[in-house]
Amino acid sequence: MSADTTEHNRNRQDFSGIESIWLFGYGSLIYKVDFPYLEKRPASIQGWARRFWQGSHDHRGTPEAPGRVVTLIEQPGAKCKGMAFRVSPKVFEHLDVREKNGYLRFTTTLTFDNGSHGEGLVYIATEDNEAFLGEAPDADIARQIASAVGPSGPNSEYLLRLAESLRALGDECTHTFAIESCLKKAPEEDL
Ligand code: SIN
Repeated sequence: MSADTTEHNRNRQDFSGIESIWLFGYGSLIYKVDFPYLEKRPASIQGWARRFWQGSHDHRGTPEAPGRVVTLIEQPGAKCKGMAFRVSPKVFEHLDVREKNGYLRFTTTLTFDNGSHGEGLVYIATEDNEAFLGEAPDADIARQIASAVGPSGPNSEYLLRLAESLRALGDECTHTFAIESCLKKAPEEDL
């Protein structure tokens, strides 16, 4: 089980005088938009790769049987595609609770699809957080995802909805698609 990052995030950035800020979503924030936003634009960030290496004890799993959700791993030359939302800083009161299982807010440079750049925030669960699970073979990750369920629903729904959203964005996330294909290939017990 991880330490709750809510309080850490509240003290990380100073929003005084700021009316709106970009938030970059690369996982469930792409498809589960339970927060108000002023504008949204497909975007990417450089040098980061999406990986199902973070444990989920609170949304897509339980402390006894954690699920797996995505975080970002630093990788020179990598590009992670996602969705940027321009939000009021107030939105972080909700999102810091939603992302509390190990994620911290980092400042990053966004590249919008028209080539322009902006500064924004992104939630990353770094390797030193207690819920970090790390690398595993695709089939093992798929097996864990197939069996995990948490208060936000089945872990498989997280994977399938993310894969669908990435396709809609024109992303070629081989990692996500490989795990999706393992999940679809075989029923839970055969994985
Ligand atoms: C994100 O979507 O940007 C963070 C990870 C998640 O909530 O799935």
